[in-house]
Amino acid sequence: MVQAQRAVPPAAEDLSPEEDLFRQDVLRGLGATPKTLPSKYFYDEEGSRIFDRICELEEYYPTRTELAILEDNAPEIVSLIGEGAVLVEPGAGSSLKVRRLLDAAGRSLSAFVPLDISGEHLVAASEKLAEDYPQLKIIPIVADFSQSLDLDQLVPAGRRVGFFPGSTIGNFTPKQARGFLRGLRDMLGENGGLIIGVDLQKDRRILEAAYDDSDNVTAAFNLNLLSRINRELGGDFDIVRFAHRAIYNDVENRIEMHLVSLTDQSVTIDGVQIDFADGETIHTENSYKYTVEGFAALAESAGWRPVKVWTDQAGLFSVHYLAGA
Ligand code: TRP
Repeated sequence: MVQAQRAVPPAAEDLSPEEDLFRQDVLRGLGATPKTLPSKYFYDEEGSRIFDRICELEEYYPTRTELAILEDNAPEIVSLIGEGAVLVEPGAGSSLKVRRLLDAAGRSLSAFVPLDISGEHLVAASEKLAEDYPQLKIIPIVADFSQSLDLDQLVPAGRRVGFFPGSTIGNFTPKQARGFLRGLRDMLGENGGLIIGVDLQKDRRILEAAYDDSDNVTAAFNLNLLSRINRELGGDFDIVRFAHRAIYNDVENRIEMHLVSLTDQSVTIDGVQIDFADGETIHTENSYKYTVEGFAALAESAGWRPVKVWTDQAGLFSVHYLAGA
């Protein structure tokens, strides 16, 4: 189902709670110094479409590298998941990567539980999975993966193993990541497990190219945030007066995504004026990069026991298997 786009800003009385929250988050972020915008708002329909294109870019090595690691090691991963386990994927989206595991799992899983904040996405992806894996019990749950969730009433009893690919963990600060990993540990239980994809530290040229590709797809992804504010909140950003910038911060070990104002300018959103100096940036996203040991130590500090890690030959990306105890 395609959501209608509004040409005119909605009247205040029409606002759904989500729109109201979006407005508040945007005005708070752009009112702060330095300016920021929450990265969760990247993924509207247009943003999700552009993100799928990022995953296919030559420069964006994480997706294909992680898929190859999963495929090459699927039998071993499946044996660590064990017989009769419930596989849980927070933020499942289109559930493409998990297919590498489902293909190898045969009938050994008792259920697959995709969690996603977008009900529409979740239902469509689950229907496709059900067609391709008719023997698999699929239990889609609409949920925000950053909030804790009690699965006891919702899924069959048995060991639970989480699947969290895409180095999404890197979009949290290490401190937030530790809290999130602790929450997953609580949700999955001490006899549970977690399969998690983590991007690795490497030459900054490779990293910066992955987040600033030559076709400007990542630029379009970042700038879509401003277009979304124009569409949904009646903003008047002049998109051509902002540029995408991705830089590796080698003190924090993270790629930082910014939108840079190319001139002194003012923008109005819902009657609120926001001033930009020439060169001022909006910080929109971080993508932290770890060493294998560094991530294992972070996971341990969140109550997980590192059991096994797989990487590709070039050492670009890692997939960890963690146990709850
Ligand atoms: N988890 C992905 C990553 O950090 C998300 C991502 C890829 C992303 N490209 C991006 C986020 C560009 C913002 C902008 O690699």
